[in-house]
Amino acid sequence: MTSTASIPTLNLMQGASIQEHLSRAADELLASFPDPEHLSADQRRGIIARYTAVLEGNFIYWMTGAYLAVGSEEARSIILDNLREEVRDCHPGMLRKFAMAAHAVPTDSDALAVYRDLTKVRLFVGRPSGVQIVLMMAFFEGFIQRFMPFLADLARRQGSAEQEYTDVHGVCDVSHTQELFRALAVEMTLDPLEPETNLFEGVDLLRALIQSIVLIGDRPMV
Ligand SMILES: [Fe+2]
Repeated sequence: MTSTASIPTLNLMQGASIQEHLSRAADELLASFPDPEHLSADQRRGIIARYTAVLEGNFIYWMTGAYLAVGSEEARSIILDNLREEVRDCHPGMLRKFAMAAHAVPTDSDALAVYRDLTKVRLFVGRPSGVQIVLMMAFFEGFIQRFMPFLADLARRQGSAEQEYTDVHGVCDVSHTQELFRALAVEMTLDPLEPETNLFEGVDLLRALIQSIVLIGDRPMV
């Protein structure tokens, strides 16, 4: 256990290259998304529904997996603060309200469309790598604040005025991302990965899941 006073910062070069990698991954994802203006109502509904099918029941699960995987008190405390806010402000309820107002409550086929990639992420967070899981969550928190305008636009085009979920997540996740990077720094010092381990494995799995949420067209179901 380390004290708060001794929290390390990521080695400058390492930290910059990790953040650059995550930022590039988010840029590429966002650039691959369709223009909401060119989507049909059904395609817009599908994206909101698949996003809801994934996030409503899994974000807290993933963050809990991160909590169980980390070894330092600092990282646990950062993750607990994040979980506390999720539960106290009922973010799953906020998301459900958002989906209902946009007439995009997930159906069984929406759940099936994301099943394969969601299962891979679920299995991944059950593994005991604090560093990889915290990095995945840092990527996600950084990504969704940039994703929120897209999601809000889809909902508006569905005739919805309900924006609490997108408003809250466009703001609060800025500080969540910074805190998770602090947790990452502590974990990388405490329990460094073997050189041959892919630091970005969870990030890659999550990117594939986000693609299965957003990308339109034929996709393998299982
Ligand atoms: Fe949330």
